[in-house]
Amino acid sequence: MDYKKFVEEQLAHIKQTVGAAKAINALSGGVDSSLVTVLGHRALGEQLQTVFIDNALMREGEPQRVVEIFAHMDIAVMLVDARQEFLSALAGLTDPEQKRQAITDTFYSKVFSRLVKESGAMFLLHGTILTDIEETVAGIKRQHNILAQLGIDTEQAYGYSVIEPLKSLRKDDVREVAKLLKLPAELSQRIPFPGPALAARIVGEVTPERLETVRTATAIVEEELADSGAFQYLAVLLNDCATGIRDNKREFGQIIVVRCIESTDARTATVTPLPWDKLDRISRQITQIDGVNRCLYDLTPKPPATIEYV
Ligand code: XMP
Repeated sequence: MDYKKFVEEQLAHIKQTVGAAKAINALSGGVDSSLVTVLGHRALGEQLQTVFIDNALMREGEPQRVVEIFAHMDIAVMLVDARQEFLSALAGLTDPEQKRQAITDTFYSKVFSRLVKESGAMFLLHGTILTDIEETVAGIKRQHNILAQLGIDTEQAYGYSVIEPLKSLRKDDVREVAKLLKLPAELSQRIPFPGPALAARIVGEVTPERLETVRTATAIVEEELADSGAFQYLAVLLNDCATGIRDNKREFGQIIVVRCIESTDARTATVTPLPWDKLDRISRQITQIDGVNRCLYDLTPKPPATIEYV
């Protein structure tokens, strides 16, 4: 594939489609939405408003880090604090599908649709890639019709349009184009991270305290395994407790699962045979987290397990 030509064609297409109107896009910090943001700003400059929605489910320091990375590329990103809305929507929910649905609904029907209206944008740039479309068609993923998700069924009347510049690319192509456009490796080479963010790694209710626990564990795992070369690594908070001892006292503590896997497309995965001393280091640090007294390493491939727990 001629990536240079791809970029030129997409820039021309975006410019021509949007004309003098305004466009908006939501940046998550993943490689797809990051690439759309860079392409969009090259084509449209100030006509494109990029928003980063802080949903309270992000990794440690993530919203600020992403805004900063883009500031270095001279791209202004509007950071929207929607933490309370997401936490309220998740309160009391324990069923995995209900939790996922609550996050999708809050994102599209409430927060992003409000931002789209306020921005006056008529065009939405979206980082849909070929695999998303294929998986939607195959019934593996939920539909990616962003207008329907935003509750906009009036495209004809109001002229809302979605532009999906990456819809002919697969992930490895996205990474190549990202490199060509000089996105920092920190963005172009990121390990996968799920849309529902840390909520996909909390079994049971998502609360600020439980988020803090899994966020701290995630930071430890990501730091320790950054040089592992693995496809993906993560920490999960279980909804169960186990007896332990701390400071000579019995403690009914929380359990963190560490997962590290090899895969090419996340459809199947095998477990990375991590060295014992690495596992030991991780376990020691994780059991320093307040209220956590056990750390387990998940030995299950996909299938029968999935990569995430929710
Ligand atoms: P599972 O858990 O289904 O995950 O084996 C396969 C890959 O997809 C990621 N994942 C998601 N990505 N939205 C996303 O954008 C989601 O809802 C979602 N759920 C899982 C997961 O991290 C893994 O790489």
